[in-house]
Amino acid sequence: MTAVTYADRWTTVRVELEDGIAWVELNRPEKRNAMSPTLNAEMVEVLLALDADDDCGVLVLTGAGEAWSAGMDLKEYFREVDDGPEHVQRKVRRDAALWQWRLLRTYAKPTIAMVNGWCFGGAFTPLVACDLAIAADEATFGLSEINWGIPPGSVVSKALSDTVGSRVGLLYVMTGRTFDGKQAAEMGLVNASVPLALLRAEVESLARELLAKNPVVLRAAKLGYKHCDAMSWDQAEDYLYAKLEQSQFLDEERGREQGLGQFLDEKRIKPGLQAYER
Ligand code: COA
Repeated sequence: MTAVTYADRWTTVRVELEDGIAWVELNRPEKRNAMSPTLNAEMVEVLLALDADDDCGVLVLTGAGEAWSAGMDLKEYFREVDDGPEHVQRKVRRDAALWQWRLLRTYAKPTIAMVNGWCFGGAFTPLVACDLAIAADEATFGLSEINWGIPPGSVVSKALSDTVGSRVGLLYVMTGRTFDGKQAAEMGLVNASVPLALLRAEVESLARELLAKNPVVLRAAKLGYKHCDAMSWDQAEDYLYAKLEQSQFLDEERGREQGLGQFLDEKRIKPGLQAYER
């Protein structure tokens, strides 16, 4: 029923909201879902709209056709704005950064990249900004920038160095070689890789697992993890305790008390092996 709400609202992105999961599909298959200024601006709107929609519990980011995304649109994002006014260049960069990592990286809801095909260059930014990522074995990844004459721009290298070791990262940055979904999983760029035919079912099952968790605690857990990376141990301890207390304060479900009660008093669950019953 909610699927109708977002139908045809954007030209370069398709959104279907079904039973708690928002399937967000970059939708320029004829251009391999290259990220144009229009797509970037629309994705900002999509993320803001779904953030405000309580029916959206998990966001899945995928691509139409045979690509996840071929990266930045070399024509519309680079060539066509090269000679334009500086404020236009600032706007296209701002919109790109806004959705690809500023909003996505700390999104209030869990996010999963479902990498169905080509994934190049600038596409590594939203890929890594998503909390989790599952790829098709058949997907092809590459840091292709070196092949068309630039070093990786924006925060692509930062995204890569946040997820894979420097030996692996530099090899692909410096050679532009491609790798597949299985290799992406081995290097820790994605969580897992499965045959394309099983990809959607695999992602849906992961999304349902996340939907079953307490959303307030989930948010505190993921933000705490992401932010503490740049802190000293002392700062991280203080911040993570504050995050824990914040989540208890905001959690109307009182998950901690339920979890402790079901384990210690009722002996109904073993938290090491299962979640408390909500
Ligand atoms: N920017 C702009 N247009 C792109 C694009 C990109 N990143 N990637 C693909 N396209 C366009 C092509 O120009 C072509 O447009 P046309 O039909 O008007 O000629 C269309 O998408 C289809 O691309 P094509 O190369 O024919 O598809 P393919 O399936 O044979 O190959 C790729 C797919 C992804 C391997 C190839 O398109 C490619 O190398 N793209 C560039 C990837 C890249 O370097 N991205 C880095 C960006 S930072």
